[in-house]
Amino acid sequence: MRNQGLFSGRGITVVNDLSLDEQWYLYCKTRELKRDLAAGADMSRWKIGSTDLGVYLMFLEDSTRTKESFRNAASFHQVRVNDFNASASSFNKNESMTDTLKMLFGYQSQSIFVIRSKQEGVCRAMQDAIGAYADKIGYPRPGFINAGDGKHEHPTQEFLDEFSFLEHRAWDRSSIHICLTGDLYHGRTVHSKADGLKIFKEVKVDLVAPKELGMPDSYLKRMQANGFEIKIYPSLDEYLASGKVASIWYFTRLQLERMGEEILDKAVYLRKAVTFRQDMLDKLPEGTRFYHPLPRDRLSPTNPSWLDDTPLNGWDEQSINGYYTRVIEIGMLGGVIGNDFEGKTLSQAEYKDDFVREVPVDGKIKPTVKIGIKPVENGIVIDHIEAGKPVQDIWNRIDKIRKILKLNIRSSHGVFHNNQGDFKGLISLPDILEFDESDLKKLGAIAPGCTLNIVKGEDVIKKYRMTMPPRIYNFQEISCKNEACISHPAAMESIAPEFIRQGDSFVCRFCERIHRYDDIWDV
Ligand code: NCD
Repeated sequence: MRNQGLFSGRGITVVNDLSLDEQWYLYCKTRELKRDLAAGADMSRWKIGSTDLGVYLMFLEDSTRTKESFRNAASFHQVRVNDFNASASSFNKNESMTDTLKMLFGYQSQSIFVIRSKQEGVCRAMQDAIGAYADKIGYPRPGFINAGDGKHEHPTQEFLDEFSFLEHRAWDRSSIHICLTGDLYHGRTVHSKADGLKIFKEVKVDLVAPKELGMPDSYLKRMQANGFEIKIYPSLDEYLASGKVASIWYFTRLQLERMGEEILDKAVYLRKAVTFRQDMLDKLPEGTRFYHPLPRDRLSPTNPSWLDDTPLNGWDEQSINGYYTRVIEIGMLGGVIGNDFEGKTLSQAEYKDDFVREVPVDGKIKPTVKIGIKPVENGIVIDHIEAGKPVQDIWNRIDKIRKILKLNIRSSHGVFHNNQGDFKGLISLPDILEFDESDLKKLGAIAPGCTLNIVKGEDVIKKYRMTMPPRIYNFQEISCKNEACISHPAAMESIAPEFIRQGDSFVCRFCERIHRYDDIWDV
C-alpha cells in the first residue's frame, strides 16, 4: 500500500474543502511546477509514479477541457487512469452511484474519483458513503474531486481561475476588482467565485447580467457575508456607462441546456446584453484582461473571436492553467505533494449537542389548564410548544410531534393560554416515564423552544428546554427540496438528508440549498 500524504483521502467537493492557506499552497505549488517545466527540470519529485493509484474519470455530463486536463494531469503522474463510460454502464440498469463506486474502488488500493454530474452534492455524498466502506474493508479512503455538479460548484475551475488572476496580478493578493458577466444564474463557475475570490483581501465584484440570468440570491448573500463589495448592472452597455469598470472580466456562456422554455425564448435578447462589441473597446481600462472558463458558442460567442489575438485574451493561458493546477490537485490527494505544507488546515466542524438543556425544576406541574387536561400524576408533559405563535401553527406542531415521535398512545393535548396572554401547545403523556436521549434530541429538532417535564407524584423531577439544534439529520420525515440534489428522493440514491443550521436557515449538507426550517420537513 502506498504512503499517505497530508492531503490523501481528502476531497475537493467545494472550494471551502481547502482552507485559504491550503488554496494558497495549491497556487504556489502550481507556480513552482510551471517554473520547473519551463526550465526543463527533472520532474520526478512532482510525480506519484505508481499504478497502485487509480484516477477514475466519471463524467456523466459532457466536458472537453476539464476532463482532458484531468486525464493529462493523471498521465503526468504515471498512475492508472480509468475513463468510466457512463452511457454504456449499469447506470442504464438503474444501478446506484454508491454501488458503482464501491465496485470501482475495490479494483485498486488507492483511488481518486473525479466526478462531473448534473446531480448536485454527489461528491460529498460519495465521500461519506465510500469513505465508510473504505474504513470497513481496511482500504485508504479515496479522494474525491468535483468536476462540476449541476448549478452548484466547480471548485477546480475556481482554483485555475484564481491562479490565472494571481499570475496576471503578479501575485498581489491585496485586492481584486472583477466583472462577472454572462449566465450568472446557471453558471457554477461563477457560483464558486463566492468563496474562491476570498484569496484576495479586498474584493470588488461587478455582476453584469439581465435579471433572468442574475446571480442567485444565496450566492449574493454569501458574497456579502464574505465582505465583497458588490455592484449589479443589467447589461454591458450600462456597466460601461458607469465609468467604474474593472480591469479583470470573467465571461460565461449562456447555459441554454439548463434553461426552461420561457427563458430560451428570450435567448437572443439576453445574449445581446452580455456580448462584447468592437465599439466598447475604448471604454476599457488600461491593461484589461478577459477570462472565460470556455467553451464559448461558436456561432454567437459573448467574447467574440476577433478578440483572440488581442492582449485582452486571458482565456487561452487560463485554459492551459487547468492542466497545471490539476497536476497539483491530483498530486496533493495522491500523497506526493503536501508534506511541506505549513499553515492552517481545515478544521472539522463541531456540532454541539447543547440544544437540549436540563434546567432547574420549578416544583409541581401547575394546573393552569382548567379547560381540558388534568395534570398528570406520573408521566411526561411536553409544554410551551410554539409558545406565542398563531394557534394554527401550534396545532400543526403538536401534530408533527405526535406523528414523528409516534405518540399514538393514551394521552391528551391542547392549545392553552400562556402566561404572556398568548397561546402555547401542550401534550400530556401519563404512560411514558422516560424519554431516551435520541428521542429528546428529536423533540428538540421538531419543536425547538418547547420544554419536557418528567413528573413523578405530581412533582416535576426533571425538566429539559430545547433550542434549535445545529444540525438536523436522522429523520425519515425530512428531505432536501432541491430536485437536482443527490439526497432528493427523486435521485433514488438513498442518501440520508442532512441540514446544517446557518442563522435562521438550514443548508443542505450536499447541494448547499438554503431552506427555511419549516421547509425541510415533509410532514
Ligand atoms: C464550465 C462548466 O462546465 O461548468 N466549463 C468548464 O468546465 N470549462 C462552463 C460551461 O459549461 O459553460
